Amino acid sequence: MKTIIGNWKMNVGTRESVALVRGVLLALRGKKMLPEVVVCPSFMALGEVRKIIAHSHVFLGAQNVHFEDHGAFTGEISSRMLSEVGVTHVLLGHSERRNLFGETDEMVNKKLIHALAVGLVPILCVGEGQEARRPGGTEEAQKVVAGQLRGAFKGLHLRHKERILIAYEPVWAIGTGVAAKPADAVSMHVFIRSLVPDLLPGIKSSQFSILYGGSVDGANAYDFLREDEVDGLLVGGASVKLSEFTKVLQSAMDVIEARA
Ligand code: PGA
Repeated sequence: MKTIIGNWKMNVGTRESVALVRGVLLALRGKKMLPEVVVCPSFMALGEVRKIIAHSHVFLGAQNVHFEDHGAFTGEISSRMLSEVGVTHVLLGHSERRNLFGETDEMVNKKLIHALAVGLVPILCVGEGQEARRPGGTEEAQKVVAGQLRGAFKGLHLRHKERILIAYEPVWAIGTGVAAKPADAVSMHVFIRSLVPDLLPGIKSSQFSILYGGSVDGANAYDFLREDEVDGLLVGGASVKLSEFTKVLQSAMDVIEARA
């Protein structure tokens, strides 16, 4: 299976989100070999987007969540509140949350535990920064990613039916127009895939997927998706441009069809 996630960030309001998701549904209409598609609008647009995707195969994701159920946390939103409005997936530990809003591995860990407790599918984002991007920096990058995964999974025991999506997003590739080379993404995915069972003993391979994110667009999506190691893509900027996102979705359908 291939998973395509659109992270709309703080880029589109409710009206545009509705138009965008209508376009996404249209792009998928009548197609048989569908990827798993998740759209993550702003909190404000969740309710309206949910109405449009009801009875479709598109899932609703949120971009963030708090780690408590309820309480005096002005401006925050809990997992329970999200699932109440039809959210099924939630982005956790996105580099923008980590770097701009001080989110730590410890917070990501608490969020992950809470999200799973109410049945949300977490999309855990990990990735090294610019400092690890130099010749010979692979080991450094792996160390950063391993640390983020170890922190996120601390004390976590996954139940049978629970599932986690891990998005490998090198920070230097996010929003820069410079994507990782598919071969480099693949080697990090291999590393992550080998590490996860150590961190979450008993986890089955069907319980986690590893996606790539960072300057994915209509032109490079196929090159990532055709790699067996790449279970899907997390798309930011290109996911709010319908023509680009449609190309990403089409690439996923082409790959799925070629394998059928
Ligand atoms: P980008 O963002 O596709 O614009 O690089 C990806 C992300 O932030 O998830």
